[in-house]
Amino acid sequence: MKSTFDIDRARADTPACERVIHFNNAGAALMPLPVSRAQQAFLAREAEIGGYETTAEYADELDGLYASAARLLNCAAGEIAYVENATRAWDMAFYSLALAPGDRILTSVSEYGSNVIAYLQRASRDGVHVEFVPDDVHGQLDVDALAHMLDDRVRLISISHIPTGGGLVNPAAAVGKIANEAGIPYLLDACQSVGQIPVDVEAIGCDLLSLTGRKFLRGPRATGLLYARQAFAEHLEPVFLDQHAAELVSPDEYRVRDDAKKFENWEQNFAGKYALKAAIDYALAWGLDAIQARVYELAATLRARLVEIDGVSVTDQGAERCGIVTFCAAQRDAGEIAGALAARGIHTSVSDGSGTLVSFERRGLVAVVRASLHYYNTEQEIESFVEALRELL
Ligand SMILES: Cc1ncc(COP(=O)(O)O)c(C=O)c1O
Repeated sequence: MKSTFDIDRARADTPACERVIHFNNAGAALMPLPVSRAQQAFLAREAEIGGYETTAEYADELDGLYASAARLLNCAAGEIAYVENATRAWDMAFYSLALAPGDRILTSVSEYGSNVIAYLQRASRDGVHVEFVPDDVHGQLDVDALAHMLDDRVRLISISHIPTGGGLVNPAAAVGKIANEAGIPYLLDACQSVGQIPVDVEAIGCDLLSLTGRKFLRGPRATGLLYARQAFAEHLEPVFLDQHAAELVSPDEYRVRDDAKKFENWEQNFAGKYALKAAIDYALAWGLDAIQARVYELAATLRARLVEIDGVSVTDQGAERCGIVTFCAAQRDAGEIAGALAARGIHTSVSDGSGTLVSFERRGLVAVVRASLHYYNTEQEIESFVEALRELL
């Protein structure tokens, strides 16, 4: 079914659309006006009356972030922590987990590089074993293989919902079912999925989930959230504590707060917090189902057009493919292509190196061009993109 999306309104809210073709939404999306204005208004007010005073003036709106995020993820406001990016959100969860020598962590081949580095650090520090669940024929995590790998030493299942370097959508809810039945903690990196597709923590069954503001949510840079399921997190002591996360009740005693704010810092990017709330409210107003339908449709169109070009191969995997479209070309390397497109005002990025290393090594890939689409992109932009690509190849 074709999505019916008020594309004119989406683009009117995104003035940069007139100047550039922005296919770098998996890097950082263009902020819509209600979000950039919120951030600017907050910063202007800070300059006018001072930082603490602005925070006090905006107290209710800032607090509203938690309710907005709760609506977005289908959880309670007290299960949300606001931090500086997705990686720190993920780190606060991961490094707070007690793991002992011989414990096993199961992850996906498509796992994000920073997360793999953290697993390896704990492998060398704590003696845990890190194992990659094989992919299935579609290139997504093989759910049956995961089920067969379980034993009583598996202490964490931790995967990326949508990886950084391709259109794959891992079967997060099927993984959640297995994790929940076995009583194994489940950490989901939802950095590329939230804002692009509906993400419901109840339906997925994750205990912990990290996300970023600047990608498909269209929020400001250096903002992120951690979802921590109350029943799971109440026994979890954060790896770091300050006097926002805990209270010093006597010279030799502290008390940790009992909601997810125990994973936060006292000092925060408050302008970012205010603008992130605006971004979440904006996404909710469009509706995540409608956003997903539009994004998937555009991405399918782009893939179909790309495979018509001589020498171009689409490298996306998965039974379900999202708005991240990746490809390489026999004629020129990915970096050159992205550079030449940028010179024409067409924004993409290159996936290579750490971020995608495990998966790319297994697949014999070095670097791919990543064109990541959002609902404010258009079919005409796809045609311009394809024309430019044909020319430069
Ligand atoms: C799958 C995935 N996880 C985590 C991150 C890190 O997000 P942040 O830069 O907000 O820490 C990224 C960023 O590209 C990502 O693609």
